Amino acid sequence: MTETIIKLENLTKKFGNFTAVNSVNLEVRRGETIGLVGPNGAGKTTVIKMIAKILRPNSGKILIRTNHSDLQDLRNVSSTISQIGFLIDIPNFYNMTAYQLLKYFGKIQRYPKDKLDNRIDELLAFFKLSEWKFERVRNFSKGMTQKLGIIQAILHDPDIIILDEPQTGLDPLARIEIRKYLRELQSLGKTIFIASHMLYEISEICDKIALINYGKIIGFDTVENLALTLKTSELNCLLLEPLDAEKILPLLNRIDERLSPFLDQNLDPKISKIPILYNPEHQGLKLYFNGKNESKGEILKILVNEFESDFTVISFTQPKTSQLERVYSQMVEDSTPEGPIKLKGVDIKNEK
Ligand SMILES: Nc1ncnc2c1ncn2[C@@H]1O[C@H](COP(=O)(O)OP(=O)(O)OP(=O)(O)O)[C@@H](O)[C@H]1O
Ligand SMILES: [Mg+2]
Repeated sequence: MTETIIKLENLTKKFGNFTAVNSVNLEVRRGETIGLVGPNGAGKTTVIKMIAKILRPNSGKILIRTNHSDLQDLRNVSSTISQIGFLIDIPNFYNMTAYQLLKYFGKIQRYPKDKLDNRIDELLAFFKLSEWKFERVRNFSKGMTQKLGIIQAILHDPDIIILDEPQTGLDPLARIEIRKYLRELQSLGKTIFIASHMLYEISEICDKIALINYGKIIGFDTVENLALTLKTSELNCLLLEPLDAEKILPLLNRIDERLSPFLDQNLDPKISKIPILYNPEHQGLKLYFNGKNESKGEILKILVNEFESDFTVISFTQPKTSQLERVYSQMVEDSTPEGPIKLKGVDIKNEK
């Protein structure tokens, strides 16, 4: 296992009597991408601001491993700026041009002078901002400002990148580009910590998800492992040809009967009476099953072999985003400010 890069130990932040971050424990290892996810006001930005030393914790510790050291208390690390890149809140970039601003950041972060101009051009080009290089930042659109904020965070090529809502205000193409860029950073072995509401982005990029609510971590694991706490998981099965309208109901009942040991027989009737739905628009079946990998294999075998004369399966997937959405809603709905957290059989400790 790789070494721990950031460790939060019982980290707590109060604003007056209000506890915004409540005894958070979290470990981020080298090369990992961690997503911090939770409702508005859950404490995500507050956690990040403490790591950035913008806010001081009331109690608990932040430990950090800088290039040449062991894990050490952030309070004793004099200059974290060159090893960590931050994007926090919507950046407020005064009256400078993009170039002036990035040049300024590059200087204070001590990026090698002779390489800075190249680096700026490269990043502006990647984020499609080259033609805006000499424009004043105050004339930038929200998404352009956000992109500049991301460039600022990674400009000095830090090993640890901490981003608060990087996709806010970005158009779909820009979000795709950011994802691509984050993947590139991952392949370079960077450690990335992202707070976001965008479950799709998070489930696509992150190795592990930390779910936070009322300032407490209520789950920390891979999407797959978090999904094990769900009573049911979904499977999407696309078919080559649409099903004949009259045959749908009897067919679904036959499938239900045959697959019943693997399907969720206690499905919320609000979703469906039987654990299978047919979606004519997508020409696909949605199956609610017990989430076990073995079951997936059996289900696929049966659908392909025993229903060959009814339909042809062209794809068979377990949607990650919808899994994360369901984990998210279940966990957030089941957690309370006081605790104990009413999760069924979930180990809420993140130490492994
Ligand atoms: N400076 C402050 N003074 C008082 N309360 C604060 C302060 N900063 C944050 N809070 C409160 O702490 C809680 C956590 O806020 P935080 O900004 O960390 O949430 P968040 O998870 O980032 O939410 P969002 O998803 O909306 O960005 C909120 O209830 C917020 O009102
Ligand atoms: Mg926030």
